[in-house]
Amino acid sequence: MAKRNGSAAGIKPAADTTQPILNVDGVTLQYKTKEHLITATYRVGFDVYPADRFVLLGPSGCGKSTLLKGIAGYMKPVEGAIRLKGREISEPGPDRVMVFQEFDQLLPWKTVKQNIIFALHNGGKTDTAAEAEEIAMEYITKVKLTGFEDTFPHMLSGGMKQRVAIARGMAMEPDVLLMDEPFAALDALTRLQMQKELLQLWEDTHFTVLFVTHSIEEALIVGSRILVMSPHPGQVKAELNAHHLNHDNVGDKKFAKVQQHIHDMLFADRILEEDVQPGARG
Ligand SMILES: Nc1ncnc2c1ncn2[C@@H]1O[C@H](COP(=O)(O)OP(=O)(O)OP(=O)(O)O)[C@@H](O)[C@H]1O
Ligand SMILES: [Mg+2]
Repeated sequence: MAKRNGSAAGIKPAADTTQPILNVDGVTLQYKTKEHLITATYRVGFDVYPADRFVLLGPSGCGKSTLLKGIAGYMKPVEGAIRLKGREISEPGPDRVMVFQEFDQLLPWKTVKQNIIFALHNGGKTDTAAEAEEIAMEYITKVKLTGFEDTFPHMLSGGMKQRVAIARGMAMEPDVLLMDEPFAALDALTRLQMQKELLQLWEDTHFTVLFVTHSIEEALIVGSRILVMSPHPGQVKAELNAHHLNHDNVGDKKFAKVQQHIHDMLFADRILEEDVQPGARG
């Protein structure tokens, strides 16, 4: 049990919220193919603090997933550094867990509960089978899947599968939960429901989450801080560090105004480029 940070209730001890838990410092990430060198992100920098709901927002191809791969330890920056609790990241670890968009991220031959237990054992988070079972059931309850613990993934809806992936990620009590467009493949109503549930879970334990989306609305609903990125190669355009909008504001004037502001920020270059097309008539 010593390996887990909190109690069986999953409550972490109060963290020092004045120090960043994750520091992305001037990070350039590249892919090398046979013919090309692709710069996915260029000198991106930001700090994530404990209990942040930090959102990476940017257009398709701007390097959001690549950044998560770097933070997860699957890619090394060619320039800059990524630090977790002050230590440079050099490999994947159970202190950073990823939730993906795809519904097939669960092991299909294991039940809901077994998927979580498997991750706990793999990450070295539990010593005994009884403890793993207890933790798995606790998180299954948290994501409202009680009664489905012995069900196999193919019997679950897309939203339920994402709930399992979230339960599995949270059960690991990572320093940062990495979420790569986890709700993007869901229908609009389920997506809204999942956003609400994620926020309820956050209210419960104030975990640190780094959430990727290209939806401005989702960024404002889910995020407490938002990093706006430029198109490929991804650079930081702006950091929005405070807003007080949530679900209840969707569709109201204030929400629409902030949404428009971010939209203009995201597409400013594009508008300029279109405006100065050679030969364009005014
Ligand atoms: N495995 C890879 N090999 C080569 N290039 C890649 C690879 N993965 C991504 N890229 C390139 O890196 C850039 C960033 O891709 P990335 O997937 O990080 O973008 P993204 O912001 O997550 O986009 P989306 O919103 O569509 O998921 C793109 O130009 C993409 O083509
Ligand atoms: Mg992506």
